[in-house]
Amino acid sequence: MTDGIPVTRRLVSAQRADNIRQMVRRAETLGDAPDASRLARPDDAPALYALLSDPAVHAPIYTLPRPLTEASVQAFIQSHLDEREAGTGLLFVRAAEDGRIMGYSDVQVWPHWAAGELGGALHPSEHNRRQGTRGAAASFDWMFESLDLDLLCETASLENVPTQRMLDGMGFERKGEVESRRPDGSARWSLVWEMTRDAWRARQGAGQP
Ligand SMILES: CC(C)(COP(=O)(O)OP(=O)(O)OC[C@H]1O[C@@H](n2cnc3c(N)ncnc32)[C@H](O)[C@@H]1OP(=O)(O)O)[C@@H](O)C(=O)NCCC(=O)NCCS
Repeated sequence: MTDGIPVTRRLVSAQRADNIRQMVRRAETLGDAPDASRLARPDDAPALYALLSDPAVHAPIYTLPRPLTEASVQAFIQSHLDEREAGTGLLFVRAAEDGRIMGYSDVQVWPHWAAGELGGALHPSEHNRRQGTRGAAASFDWMFESLDLDLLCETASLENVPTQRMLDGMGFERKGEVESRRPDGSARWSLVWEMTRDAWRARQGAGQP
């Protein structure tokens, strides 16, 4: 996470924040579809490391472990299981029948602001076929409706054109730039976008994913 996000911060009641934490603790899959991504488990570390070790996957993402090793990926999975217990984070993976992990989703939640952030990546063989846009839209829906969030805040590096186009195209509002810090302490600039639940629902109602 980045200290400067979300940009919009509206405190919700302690009870609402507790309910959001409960929903995070109960989550098992990212949505209800039969092929929905499931929670990452410690024994996913080798397959998740195989996905993440491709620079086409890890280079644009500041939240991944550095250095990236199978052990650091295992610790990344474990820290998300701890975040799930705390009601503040979830890590999901989508596994193929051959055991490869074809995508992951990293959900971060600020329960006291009813806000969240989604990160993630697809296997490079699936890039640029609109699968990212479809998956992100379904995940945003789930975060607003099943986690009861009011706001989503997203970031992308200045070079990450696919993510920038995706968020602009989905109607997220640009909110400037923040300095994001990687786990090894290095920094990078990120563009920031936000979307409120009301605005998201209005777009969905108008048939605009
Ligand atoms: C970001 C990511 C999930 C997007 O998914 P995707 O399926 O590849 O993207 P889509 O096919 O849905 O395309 C999204 C937009 O990016 C554009 N795009 C896709 N690949 C592109 C490329 N290589 N160069 C320029 N634009 C590209 C598409 O044309 C589309 O824009 P449009 O709607 O204006 O036409 C995927 O590329 C990925 O996993 N990247 C690596 C990790 C990453 O960057 N994660 C996000 C940061 S947390």
